[in-house]
Amino acid sequence: MDKKITIIGAGNVGATAAHWALVRQLGDVVLLDVMEGIPQGKALDLWQSGPLDGYSGTLQGSNDYADTKDSDVVIITAGLARKPGMSRDDLLAKNVAIVKSCAEEAVKYSPECVLIVVTNPIDAMVHTAFKVSGLPKERVLGMAGVLDSARYRTFLADALGVAAKDVNALVMGIHGDNMLPLARLANVGGVPITELLPADTIEEIIKRTQMGGIEIVNHLKTGSAFYTPGLAAIEMAEAVLTDSRRVMPCAAYLEGEFDISGYFLGVPVVLGKNGVEKILQFALTEQEKTALQDSVAAVSKQMAATGL
Ligand code: 2OP
Repeated sequence: MDKKITIIGAGNVGATAAHWALVRQLGDVVLLDVMEGIPQGKALDLWQSGPLDGYSGTLQGSNDYADTKDSDVVIITAGLARKPGMSRDDLLAKNVAIVKSCAEEAVKYSPECVLIVVTNPIDAMVHTAFKVSGLPKERVLGMAGVLDSARYRTFLADALGVAAKDVNALVMGIHGDNMLPLARLANVGGVPITELLPADTIEEIIKRTQMGGIEIVNHLKTGSAFYTPGLAAIEMAEAVLTDSRRVMPCAAYLEGEFDISGYFLGVPVVLGKNGVEKILQFALTEQEKTALQDSVAAVSKQMAATGL
């Protein structure tokens, strides 16, 4: 296959992403982890599904960054996940060191890659990866909005009794309690949801979306969500690898867009072979502007804690 994709971290999110990369035939896949045997075992297991699902590329489990050489896309999923009672920020100190080392090593071997960061707290981790990698801002992205919007769309579709695929909805801002699921722009088949659902139902759905991660952590008790996070990262990777120019909410580096500078934050992005091809800007209401500034304040606190 002519494209190469590396997934760093062979935990639940990484292995799920590797699975989807195979199913979608995105290219040759390297699953890398510091734990000896884990990426090799999972890669072998996934590779053996080829005769059943038709996958024909290569899949390699590795502990050696040299194997990731010349990847077109690198996805960083390595790091600790939340347990009940933990906020995403509680992971920061440990994960910042992990993400630093992953990003540094990855770009040594793939200096032209597009880097997608999934590790939490995402908005600060993607900034960390940006700083240490030296990659241009367009080539560094955080996965969060695709996941949060998928949750929002799922809950809206359920309330509306329609196919989730036909619900378009955007979640902007931080991947945290201050995220901004926009109601006025959400629609089903082009019809505004504000015309179809009572305001208090929409409010409940927005709250549930904002708490979507912890709802799952509280069920699992031993970790956090991975099926949709893994697929969301692959959805972004596919848009880059196929240069599809699909529009997705991603954590992108802002330099004046939405009147914000110097932060990664979830905004609608046109994704293509260069990563962020364009950020789609639009006028926010005063209330939305305030909500986005709350996201900035929260990310700024995280950033200070990274020491970068
Ligand atoms: C979540 O929201 C893992 O942060 C991720 O489920």
